[in-house]
Amino acid sequence: MLRDATSRQRTSMGNANRLKIGLFGSNCSSGRAVTMVPERWSGSWHDNLRLVRLADERGIDFMLPVARWKGYGGDTDYQGATLETMTWATGLLANSKRLTVFGTVHAPLFHPLIAAKEFVTADHVGEGRFGLNVVCGWNEGEFDMFGATLRDHETRYEYAQEWLDAVKRAWAAETEFDFDGAFVKLKRVRAWPKPWGGTRPLIMNAGASPTGQLFAIRNCDALFMSTRLASLDTYARNVREVRELARREGRELDFYTVGVITCKPTMRQAQDYYHHCIVEHADWNAVDRILAMKNITPQSHPQEFARLRSEQANGMGGLPIVGDPDYVANVLATLSEAGLTGIGVSFVNYLDELPYFCDEVLPRLARRGLRAH
Ligand SMILES: Cc1cc2nc3c(=O)[nH]c(=O)nc-3n(C[C@H](O)[C@H](O)[C@H](O)COP(=O)(O)O)c2cc1C
Repeated sequence: MLRDATSRQRTSMGNANRLKIGLFGSNCSSGRAVTMVPERWSGSWHDNLRLVRLADERGIDFMLPVARWKGYGGDTDYQGATLETMTWATGLLANSKRLTVFGTVHAPLFHPLIAAKEFVTADHVGEGRFGLNVVCGWNEGEFDMFGATLRDHETRYEYAQEWLDAVKRAWAAETEFDFDGAFVKLKRVRAWPKPWGGTRPLIMNAGASPTGQLFAIRNCDALFMSTRLASLDTYARNVREVRELARREGRELDFYTVGVITCKPTMRQAQDYYHHCIVEHADWNAVDRILAMKNITPQSHPQEFARLRSEQANGMGGLPIVGDPDYVANVLATLSEAGLTGIGVSFVNYLDELPYFCDEVLPRLARRGLRAH
């Protein structure tokens, strides 16, 4: 059996839904909303367990965690409590039947053989529903915590390439093997069992730089790219360009983005709730710390600072989709027209808000032929 068979042969992410919808960031306290409102997301295991059961039942296609090791501080210590993503994914897979669950793994922080075996274990628990999000890391404070050094940007991806080659080798090799890379050196490796059912887990990456995107083209089934509503044309052009680059390398990949949904019965109610959580009660101290870590200050970005600040408060730069069910469904349909395969969304409180989204938005998408139901 072909060991490099792609995601398309696998369960939920290869289903008939033309627009896949997943939940992003529920393993972290406050999720993706940098807010102080009391109903903000706990990120607890108990709530994640209730969420995966609800999402699985209601037809959500995937869950994607954020690998965050160190909270951002501020008044809420934003994302200060996070569940480790491989153990989180394995627990969720054991408690669901249909959806894909990703683990988000920093290549430089996990030994490739331990990682390869964790992925296989999760994949067996989920009977083929595990997916891998490879990240190289950018947050120096997190690397300091481990006593690890954050490599320069290009070398990060060279390392990740070797790391992933070693993981894939462990997944595929039917005999003992050595691996002699510039960074990764392995001797007489034995790695069994193999991933579930003779395929390999779906692999994604969210590189934004040309190097990051080339890494995705060469190695991944899916690339997550950020977008803004105002620049959907640019997004559609980016998708076409990256798709064309991939074809030249003999590769096909799917394109996803991330969004933050506030969906209420009327436009006014949605805008009011958004304003309440993300403007009046934003954790601005955390927002400013996050921006400073990315060297974004009023001095360095005088024109854009206010915009970047409010985008960061709502979903860390994910696309804000604020409105009634018709509006939300229209935006999602527009994204699909721009070439997107799917979107990972977040809410202020996933458990409170997901039922209304599923009741009202998913049927509207089904009527447009974007989802089975
Ligand atoms: C959807 C999405 C998920 C991401 N998840 C993580 C994560 O969990 N941990 C992390 O350190 N970086 C994460 N990143 C950052 C990316 O891996 C990447 O470093 C960033 O987009 C910059 O791209 P570049 O590495 O090509 O410069 C994520 C980015 C996106 C858009």
